[in-house]
Amino acid sequence: MASNVTRRTLLRSIGVAGGAGVMFESMRALGLMASPQALAVPGFRPPRTGDLDGRKRGKKVVVLGAGVAGLAAAYELGKAGYRCTVLEAKDRVGGRNWTVRAGTTETDLDGHTQTARFSRDPNIYLNAGPARLPQSHITLDYCRELGVPLETFLNANANALIYNERTGVAPQQYRTAKADMYGYVSELLAKAVDQGSLDASLTASDKDALLTFLSGFGAIGNKAAGYAYTGTSRRGYSVEPGAADQAGTVLGPPPPLPAVLASQVGRYFSFEFGYDQAMTMLQPVGGMDAIPRALYDAVGRDKVRLGARVTGVTDTDRGVEVTYTDRRGKEVLLTADFCVATLPPHLMAKVPTNLDPAVTAALRYPTVTSAGKIGLEYRSRWWETDERIYGGITETDMDLQHIWYPSAGFHGERGVVVGYYNTGGSANTYGALAPSARTERALAQGVKIHGEKYRSELASAFSVAWQRTPFLEGAWVGWPSRTSGQYALLNKPAGHVYFAGDWLSYFIAWQAGAFDSARHAVTGIHQRVMAEG
Ligand code: ALA
Repeated sequence: MASNVTRRTLLRSIGVAGGAGVMFESMRALGLMASPQALAVPGFRPPRTGDLDGRKRGKKVVVLGAGVAGLAAAYELGKAGYRCTVLEAKDRVGGRNWTVRAGTTETDLDGHTQTARFSRDPNIYLNAGPARLPQSHITLDYCRELGVPLETFLNANANALIYNERTGVAPQQYRTAKADMYGYVSELLAKAVDQGSLDASLTASDKDALLTFLSGFGAIGNKAAGYAYTGTSRRGYSVEPGAADQAGTVLGPPPPLPAVLASQVGRYFSFEFGYDQAMTMLQPVGGMDAIPRALYDAVGRDKVRLGARVTGVTDTDRGVEVTYTDRRGKEVLLTADFCVATLPPHLMAKVPTNLDPAVTAALRYPTVTSAGKIGLEYRSRWWETDERIYGGITETDMDLQHIWYPSAGFHGERGVVVGYYNTGGSANTYGALAPSARTERALAQGVKIHGEKYRSELASAFSVAWQRTPFLEGAWVGWPSRTSGQYALLNKPAGHVYFAGDWLSYFIAWQAGAFDSARHAVTGIHQRVMAEG
């Protein structure tokens, strides 16, 4: 491109000459916008019928774990006719993709057994693990391919609340907190621009443009008004406007700037800016486990052995030998050409194998994160009727951390609120309690935000502490470093054993990571088989 033509001037002339459609394509060509292809993972070619002919036919793969990674690996390999057997220790598929409904029973590692007393209603469930899907993730491609219907997940909601107990400020709506924070920040910046404090960085036209932006962003006064933020209807109303002479009463006045800063409400605003987050996301209709259930059917239920606990993996000259104990405690030996191991790394590290000790050491390297959730079923949808909160998340500095309101079933009789979704130390605090004490703690904290109905309307509760959940023992893992060798080692086969899971991706704690890591393992196996003579 000629050096005196900027991309902006070029685009402007293309826009004038060719119209918006031409400009759109030009932006893609210049790399200014992601193309649809860029959103998909490059280079994956699913194995196909007909790939395995002659001696390649009937290759066997044993898959450890029927979570999303394991099922996806079996699903993709199955497309070419690999004979897969999936071993799953639990009595259900899905791994951390777990939807709790009426009658769901689980016993944790501390011996607490819970049975969900939820109502039998399609919208009454708790997505105990994954619960929101970003638009960019390949998880959606699998939902399309497998026929899993999606609906909107409301992630950020202006009517949801922020409550920082430690600051002593009462709960307030997101919209109020944002109006004040954006307003005052805009006022300060506008004053700085006006007083010439930024003249070294900004031209006169830059300053005009910035002031125009700040005027809208913060709803501040004009120059004559000293760019002051004085509050507007963005804060909400103490008396709603209506017909005829009902002008409404704007909620106000805003607290002074130091009080807004001290309230620390602004710390939650950037959450939805994360690439994997957004104001609106997606969820499968009726529960997240629609994904593993669809995979289970697509793989073939007969290919998955539930209640099968892996007791050993031996890499041999010709393939792998895997032993497991079945439901009745009987030891079973399976031989296969390959193994795809999708157990959480810290649990895989405990399985006796003959693999290089460096592999076992690498499996022990990631750090394990705790997370917990509680589903609170209420007899009424008071958050909708009394507080006009339809979906979204309330943020707090209490150890419940987040309260989620349901994104489906609006105006139904009942609903399930996620009374806490927490990670790290807060999840350990809750997880150390018996389920009834978790409920009591969640209610005691929630009452501070929503009042006594938070307790009095409760019908039933079910909680999960992932770090205390058998065969998972953690929510997800983190890599202290991805460049210190362990991550690369585990992304390579150990003999005939291929590892897969979200933990081997750059999408940790997302199903997309599990899907893509499964594709990586499948590609490795299939290319190896295709290259055989
Ligand atoms: N992906 C997880 C979430 O969205 C961690 O909360």
